Amino acid sequence: MESRLITDISEINSLYDFIRTQNLNYPQYDEWAKKCRDELLTGYKKAFAMIVAGKNREPIVVGSIIAQPHKKDPSVLELKNGRVHTQYAKKGCFKNIYLDVERYARENGYRKILLDAHADNFEMISLMQKLGYIIECRENLYTNKSLELVMTKDLSLTKLQTLEMVVIDSARKAMMKIRLLMMKFLKVILIKNE
Ligand SMILES: CC(C)(COP(=O)(O)OP(=O)(O)OC[C@H]1O[C@@H](n2cnc3c(N)ncnc32)[C@H](O)[C@@H]1OP(=O)(O)O)[C@@H](O)C(=O)NCCC(=O)NCCS
Repeated sequence: MESRLITDISEINSLYDFIRTQNLNYPQYDEWAKKCRDELLTGYKKAFAMIVAGKNREPIVVGSIIAQPHKKDPSVLELKNGRVHTQYAKKGCFKNIYLDVERYARENGYRKILLDAHADNFEMISLMQKLGYIIECRENLYTNKSLELVMTKDLSLTKLQTLEMVVIDSARKAMMKIRLLMMKFLKVILIKNE
């Protein structure tokens, strides 16, 4: 399993297959996904993905973040469609993909990163806050019925190393949780066998 910026056509096709299945009630999502595939092929959009090898070693995308320059302000990188397959969730996939995104943004001179999320997507909102994002505003971006939160991160205020530490710390905590669960499980088995 590895996370990186993808440019190869077979990887972009696998990403398209993945994102097509990942609508979260966004209007005209299928059209957006098709347009997204085209814009990835032209290089206007960039895709960062977690890839696993299939049965015949073909690349299979199991998580991704799409990025493009903001239409009104090209010094801002806009993120779209952060998704991780449920089978791979809670394993640090998103945070690792995001690390590649922020590294790319810094290396390419972006001063800020922006994204939006459904206002009731608490998992995503708290995840982004842990990654250093603040809530900039609330808007009806897609329909009058659904409210989105616009979140941003000013890249001049922190260093990439700080983010790397956050991700390493999450991995450490996750390992500790697994170790504690295994110890509890072993204790139960030992008590049963006494
Ligand atoms: C929201 C979503 C992108 C999160 O993806 P994910 O891969 O599960 O996220 P991560 O695993 O990186 O982070 C989640 C938790 O796993 C933990 N984790 C487990 N193992 C880890 C490891 N090895 N390394 C780092 N973190 C690890 C993290 O600590 C984190 O918990 P925390 O937030 O309490 O710190 C994913 O659930 C998803 O696709 N949801 C549906 C789509 C969606 O809502 N997208 C957002 C639209 S804007």
